[in-house]
Amino acid sequence: MARYRGPVPEALILGGTGAIGTEVARRLLTDGWKVTVTGRDAAHLDAPLLELGVQFRAVDRADRKAIAAAVGRGVDLLLDCICFTAADAETILPLLPLVASPVMISSKAVYIDTQGRHSNSDEPAFFKRPIREDQPTLPPGGSWPKDSSEGYGRHKVAAERILLESGAPVSVLRPSKVHGRRARPPREWVFVKRALDRRPCVLLARRGRGVDQPSSAANLAALVQLAAETPAPRVLNAADPDAPDALQISRVVAAHLGHRWEEVLLPDGAAPQLGDHPWNRRFPIVLDMSAAELLGYRPVGDYASTVAEELGWLTDLARSGPGLLESQGSYFSRYLDYEAEDRFLGQGAV
Ligand SMILES: NC(=O)c1ccc[n+]([C@@H]2O[C@H](COP(=O)([O-])OP(=O)(O)OC[C@H]3O[C@@H](n4cnc5c(N)ncnc54)[C@H](OP(=O)(O)O)[C@@H]3O)[C@@H](O)[C@H]2O)c1
Repeated sequence: MARYRGPVPEALILGGTGAIGTEVARRLLTDGWKVTVTGRDAAHLDAPLLELGVQFRAVDRADRKAIAAAVGRGVDLLLDCICFTAADAETILPLLPLVASPVMISSKAVYIDTQGRHSNSDEPAFFKRPIREDQPTLPPGGSWPKDSSEGYGRHKVAAERILLESGAPVSVLRPSKVHGRRARPPREWVFVKRALDRRPCVLLARRGRGVDQPSSAANLAALVQLAAETPAPRVLNAADPDAPDALQISRVVAAHLGHRWEEVLLPDGAAPQLGDHPWNRRFPIVLDMSAAELLGYRPVGDYASTVAEELGWLTDLARSGPGLLESQGSYFSRYLDYEAEDRFLGQGAV
């Protein structure tokens, strides 16, 4: 049985208006917690959370004083969804004695294979088996920007180490590809849009066999709550119980939207602008979840059941106008090149 500081456990979620924060807030509020989420813009808060009683504070991640004020005299859970660098970790370090269970969201991007390749490398990483938490990681820090493919994982490692070496009971969670309500980017949009546009075919590179394991925000929320209840310094993978390939993902989306399309499974070596999708991996990326399971983690559901939340949200967004999805246009344009597809299909390819 978890012991909290007061009769009502309290959580503070830094960067809490994204997919992970939204789902953790929803889970904890439903379970009777008091939850405050931070962000820069209250308009980004998921409206249903307000009905559940969430509190919002405008706090910039670089503002030490504002974060300290939000922690106040202490919280049971401090979930940091926007800890990307050593400097970010150092910002919260002095506050850790006031927190019963600090949880930092890291990433599977920290892992390297035997050749030093990682999930964002130009050369595809090859992991022989599902990746465990003791897999070697990138070296910490360096001069690459935190949002570059080489810098992202390195800066995450630097942040992880500072928190893990603090002596505080910090849980570092390493998700894979996050899906859920308010996901950024909501990757399934590549198939949702096609289904809403009633496209007659879906083209899939590498015959749709690419695997890059999903991590539902709902499953992450279950793991965050478990970490809150059992504080200890640790690193845990955080992924869905299954690892569907892109063909299976496309079928889940099409079935959800009641659409049928012809599957055009392109061979390796097809033109790169055809059939590309966010799970287009040469070698599968799958996380070993046994450490979390040993701790008592039970996922809320598999990919097909948990992704329904994001699919419903995306469908509603599409019906209410471009809005949020338009701001993600640059991410999606390479996956939604209908003209190139139509030219290919018009050549009698199917
Ligand atoms: N997405 C993935 O597939 C994936 C995979 C692995 C790991 N992760 C990790 O997951 C975390 C992101 O979680 P998420 O996807 O739930 O979040 P998200 O959608 O990226 O949202 C980030 C949240 O932080 C706020 N925010 C961003 N920059 C801020 C700043 N400078 N100061 C204050 N607030 C700021 C945003 O709201 P405002 O814009 O209103 O400020 C929003 O609430 C990151 O640590 C990332 O490394 C993500």
